[in-house]
Amino acid sequence: MKIQSINKNINSLYVHIPFCEHICFYCDFVKVKKPTKNEKVIYDYLDNLEKELLAYGDRLNHLQTIYIGGGTPSCLDEKQTIRMCEILNKYVNKCTIEYTIELNPESVTKEKLLIYKNNNINRLSMGIQTFDNSLLKKVGRIHDNKEAIDAYKLIRQVGFDNVSIDLMYNLFDQEAKNIETDLNYIKELKPDHISWYSLIMKEKSIWGKLKYKKPSKDEDFDILVNKGLKKLGYVRYEISNYSLKDEKKSLHNISYWNSDLFAGVGVGASGFEIIDNKYYLTCNEGNFLSYKKKYELVSENDFYFQVLMMGLRLIGGINLEIEINKYAYKAYEEKINENINKNFLEVKDNHLKCTERGLNILNEILVSLL
Ligand SMILES: C[S@@+](CC[C@H](N)C(=O)[O-])C[C@H]1O[C@@H](n2cnc3c(N)ncnc32)[C@H](O)[C@@H]1O
Ligand code: SF4
Repeated sequence: MKIQSINKNINSLYVHIPFCEHICFYCDFVKVKKPTKNEKVIYDYLDNLEKELLAYGDRLNHLQTIYIGGGTPSCLDEKQTIRMCEILNKYVNKCTIEYTIELNPESVTKEKLLIYKNNNINRLSMGIQTFDNSLLKKVGRIHDNKEAIDAYKLIRQVGFDNVSIDLMYNLFDQEAKNIETDLNYIKELKPDHISWYSLIMKEKSIWGKLKYKKPSKDEDFDILVNKGLKKLGYVRYEISNYSLKDEKKSLHNISYWNSDLFAGVGVGASGFEIIDNKYYLTCNEGNFLSYKKKYELVSENDFYFQVLMMGLRLIGGINLEIEINKYAYKAYEEKINENINKNFLEVKDNHLKCTERGLNILNEILVSLL
């Protein structure tokens, strides 16, 4: 059996902007406090991004999605934002359907929103986490509820029609009534898309270093979140992602869940590429002043596991009409069948997917496949 890709083009690009105005207690993403005295390092970082992109030659000529994430991309000032957009604009063409940037409420300004709009960015994803002011403080955010709502309204005024918000649950001291409050704000604001994650206690986060333990109420909040969003008309299409309409699902993230190829640029960014007909995971290791792309060969079996690990996150599951997915199924058939017998997985309409029970224990299912 030979490794084949669903699509050998790189259709997606992830761009990492590592700067943040502050560091939230739960976060272990690759980020640094934005240097305020020495602006040059930010321009140097952007110059390095440009060089890294140029090294791809014509392999980025067919990008369908671009995602600028962080860190906090919106913490760049206007001039820095223009420079960033100027670099990325070379990769936007008629293939490009979705172009997203991540924002934090405290750094949203009308000027920056106009720059994004004038530079082809058509999807905004703003991290709010919770609408409860005391919880926001407890998790180390520097914006309050009003700033988040004002920023959201400004985004709509400027004319963006594809807006996502990030929320978190299972935060310390969070109660069912906080989730109800968040749902009420969603009802009022109607974001097109929501990513609502359960807190993951990360060892390298500030809380992780303090040896905080995650509160164990996951399941109750899961039910509240899922039921509440369904009532508001949101369709859950991935474990933690919901959209109001089909066309507002995150195409960029779907490409990860489908194990498509993507390039990642910037410190800490990872990618998934084919070089000389072999699959490689890439990761940019180092610090934001100097990093290097490392390549890790992905074996056939590891690739199939990745197809299952990523694809089972989708509520619709893995399409078994696609050849590569069929191979992945075959490679793990015996163990998949054991999970089907336990009613954790099912095959329906030629898709392998988690049952309702299985969705709550996906990690355990994946471990059982190994
Ligand atoms: C890494 S942040 C980058 C975007 C932006 N700086 C922000 O704060 O929203 C992307 C999202 O990841 C989620 N996130 C970060 N750390 C998390 C954790 N430990 N557990 C669950 N979700 C987390 C948050 O919802 C956050 O909005
Ligand atoms: S959650 Fe966002 S703002 Fe907070 S530290 Fe992480 S990347 Fe920075």
